[in-house]
Amino acid sequence: MVLFLEIICCLQGCEASVLLDKANSEKTAPINVNLHGFEAIDAAKAAVEKACPGVVSCADILQYAARDAVVLTGGQSWDVFAGRRDGTESNAAEPATELPLQTMTVSQLLSVFALKNLNAAHMVALSGSHSIGVAHCSFVTDRLYPNADSSIPADLLASMKASCPTAAATTQLNLDEQTPNTFDSKYFDNIINNRGLLASDQVLLDDSLTASEVQANNGANFGTKFAQAMVVMARYQVLIDNAGEIRTNCRNTL
Ligand code: HEM
Repeated sequence: MVLFLEIICCLQGCEASVLLDKANSEKTAPINVNLHGFEAIDAAKAAVEKACPGVVSCADILQYAARDAVVLTGGQSWDVFAGRRDGTESNAAEPATELPLQTMTVSQLLSVFALKNLNAAHMVALSGSHSIGVAHCSFVTDRLYPNADSSIPADLLASMKASCPTAAATTQLNLDEQTPNTFDSKYFDNIINNRGLLASDQVLLDDSLTASEVQANNGANFGTKFAQAMVVMARYQVLIDNAGEIRTNCRNTL
């Protein structure tokens, strides 16, 4: 379920368009093929519909699910502001132009986040989501083959190559080598020690502004900074009043 953290508000806003099972929807875009956990959202929606039909949107359920995934893995909680409505459009072409890529420079990443009204501090704190979860080898093999990224420490390089033995490997690696199942600030400690997994994690140290945010998140302040950034992201292009709809099934428009 955790991958929802990354994309819940990325495209047209926090309006659950990523859940729609339409022809040519966002879900069908190549960059989204590894998204998973949709059945957990279906189960939550079914339970909420049973108790209180037609009131809680899929967009709000995604926000609660993201918060609860963080709390269940040891992260800090936050209040989710509800009242969003669901979008009815979903376009497969959008993810390619609006989602951040692991190959981007800091300035490219900042531009993508700025489109969602998120600044450098928000971007770095939100990247702390990579404190849990995994990446498929295809997102790191360009750091390994044919020539290894010389900034990767030798022992980490050996373990990355063991997990991804060839450039075509389809296996996965933990995003946080220290505490892969706990939502904590070790992700930032990894970066400070040149042990970030994705190029887009490690690149945060290249720019003085993002580097100082990496330092600021490495420790007890991470929980609060992440929670605050999630609240800001969750406000992006929210549908209210008569806009959109409250879906009965998160996969289909009414
Ligand atoms: C800074 C720009 C970002 C880039 C370039 C990026 C890229 C990636 C990539 C390539 C993966 C591996 C996907 C796969 O193997 O299928 C991943 C995983 C993940 N990302 Fe990001 N991400 C970014 C920001 C974020 C943000 C802002 C969040 C949440 C707020 C987030 C949450 C996650 C999570 C939870 C996973 C693990 C998924 C799993 O275990 O299934 N990422 N990200």
